[in-house]
Amino acid sequence: MTNNSQPESAPVDHSEEEAAIAKCVRAFYEKARADDLLGPVFNGWIKDWAQHLKIMDDFWSGALLGTQRYTAAPFPPHLKLDMTQAHFDRWQALWVPAAEATLPESIRGKAVSIAEHMAHCWGRAYTTMKSQMAQA
Ligand code: HEM
Repeated sequence: MTNNSQPESAPVDHSEEEAAIAKCVRAFYEKARADDLLGPVFNGWIKDWAQHLKIMDDFWSGALLGTQRYTAAPFPPHLKLDMTQAHFDRWQALWVPAAEATLPESIRGKAVSIAEHMAHCWGRAYTTMKSQMAQA
């Protein structure tokens, strides 16, 4: 017998994970902004840090929890920057410890594997596209 007094699916409470993601994003940027390779790129481009951090919270919330607040295409804005594979390797080297230090076990492994995958795939796609743009 079904119990019709129960809602079909109660909304999932992700507030703890969302708070941890916000902490992770800020831990990452504290290191990244002081980094010799990434710092000049981030500090040179990003004018509104509150807005950027909110975008990154939403991006990672989507990647890790399946929320849909971030709906843009994240790759194209990077094409106007001047980066190499070394930037993506450093990005990964800073993101992974930030994720390991701040995220709960439920999303930690996923955050690390997504970051490793993205740093590798974006790095390859990025360097290929930049060299094609330079030749065009
Ligand atoms: C594969 C790893 C990376 C991921 C997942 C990532 C993710 C993102 C996302 C989601 C945005 C927001 C785009 C939007 O406005 O919709 C962004 C913007 C940005 N990212 Fe990355 N990023 C990565 C690597 C890097 C690296 C290596 C750098 C070099 C420092 C970098 C520098 C920037 C900058 C400067 C912006 C702001 C661009 C703008 O709004 O004008 N990102 N990133």
